Amino acid sequence: MTFDKKKVVYQIYPKSFKDTTGNGIGDLNGIIEKLPYLKELGVDVLWLNPFYPSPQRDNGYDVADYKAINPLFGTMEDFDRLVSIAKKYHMELMLDMVLNHCSTDHEWFQKALQGDKKYQDYFILRKETTDWQSKFGGLAWSKFGNTDYYYLHLFDKTQADLNWRNPEVRLEMQKVVNFWREKGIKHFRFDVINLIGKDQVLKSNPVLDGKMEYTDKPITHKYLKELNLATFGQDSDSMTVGEMSSTTIENCIKYSSPNSNELAMVFNFHHLKVDYENGQKWTLTKFDFKELQKLYHDWGNAMSHADGWNALFWNNHDQPRALNRFINIKDFHEEGATMLAASIHLSRGTPYIYMGEEIGMLDPNFDDISDYVDVESHNAFENLLSKEYNKDLAFKIIKAKSRDNSRTPMQWDESENAGFTTATPWLKVAETYPTINVERCKNNKIFKFYQQLIKLRKDLDIISHGSYKSKFENSDTVYAFEREYQGQKLLVLNNFFDKETNIEIDSEFTDGKLLLSNYEDSKITKQLSLRPYESIAIII
Ligand code: GLC
Repeated sequence: MTFDKKKVVYQIYPKSFKDTTGNGIGDLNGIIEKLPYLKELGVDVLWLNPFYPSPQRDNGYDVADYKAINPLFGTMEDFDRLVSIAKKYHMELMLDMVLNHCSTDHEWFQKALQGDKKYQDYFILRKETTDWQSKFGGLAWSKFGNTDYYYLHLFDKTQADLNWRNPEVRLEMQKVVNFWREKGIKHFRFDVINLIGKDQVLKSNPVLDGKMEYTDKPITHKYLKELNLATFGQDSDSMTVGEMSSTTIENCIKYSSPNSNELAMVFNFHHLKVDYENGQKWTLTKFDFKELQKLYHDWGNAMSHADGWNALFWNNHDQPRALNRFINIKDFHEEGATMLAASIHLSRGTPYIYMGEEIGMLDPNFDDISDYVDVESHNAFENLLSKEYNKDLAFKIIKAKSRDNSRTPMQWDESENAGFTTATPWLKVAETYPTINVERCKNNKIFKFYQQLIKLRKDLDIISHGSYKSKFENSDTVYAFEREYQGQKLLVLNNFFDKETNIEIDSEFTDGKLLLSNYEDSKITKQLSLRPYESIAIII
């Protein structure tokens, strides 16, 4: 697989990007309208979250038809137009493939419910269940119609897990991918793909809600090789990324190393759990820098050594905004945003920008649970109340952790609803839009810095292709790494705190050239003093 390592991906949550029909929901034509803006930013590949027909219980990750467009978002003609206009701008789409489960509204599940044996074997039905917990709360099994059986759903009960042990299911999935390939799509993001492999005999396991019993099962690698061969592997420059839930470095090397013929790269989430207390999401605690630093180093070193490839990201549609989690935004919004950007864009892997990140968008300040739409947030709120958290604390936790934090409409300008829609938006706009919006921020430091980072990756092979080596592992404040390529070296230093910090760099870098900094007057000296959230890159 020879995907282009110079490419940068921009993630669009279509529902919240730009509404052109006045129904309060973003649509495909809205994306077309904003292509010039994305071109200006300089991104190459646009990952679109699911826009297929779906009852929207989980905002499209509950797919009812894999080969059509949800009328909420437009038509197949709109889609084809989007592909061809994007091409004119030298941009390509990456589609989201949700192949681990489908909506219980899908005709496969409906036929199964009506007693069709062929389709019953598309799902995971058991008379005796396990103790596995759904990732959205509650047991992962629900009653299958009026039968003695239960069906497995690792997510919401309307998202039934598909039975990949059945070769017909695997064939169906290949057909889905090839349907979109025939429309000219070469890049794919595979939703929770490391959960597709399930054993014949499923075992209870109270540890970690049963995760070990269905995550990264060895058979998953076989399924991916098969999918690769039958579909995207036939496109030499295909860029694929697997979303890997609770995974390991060892497995991610296998998923992404070119010799495996599985995927081009992997998303893992360990670095976004460093502000979880005891590994639990619905808690409130400060982020642990040492843990973050160690995770980045462990993954960076190991993937570099074994030729694996990481997708690099701080934000996506499932995470609160990184600025709210890691940065003192009150005093250092711009410095913090640019430091976070440099810390991944100069690293080894493919960077992903989540819509709005390039203008420093923030979590909304909602004041009532009814402002949230996400099913996971509502389940978590109820769950916290049932554990006798008082309402204020439960709400405070939801507010910090809800996935809706990143799903609020894109902020285009200071007009009503941030220029996203003329109707009532499906999810409220964040109140910061009069100051944080594209029109106003396009000439600001954050946007320009992103432009610069994207361009640097194109211009310098050391950024796109260099190796990764951890540096200053003992520092309590600086996340640093060294890249190396064909005799060149690049040292990247990132101060993760809102206070000045000192570091002594190796002599070889003192005569180096300052490649990039998020402060205007950075200077290279052996004893370096990094200002709040200062990020500098030195090349020799
Ligand atoms: C992934 C998606 C998330 C979705 C889940 C179930 O984690 O990113 O949004 O809810 O899979 O499909």
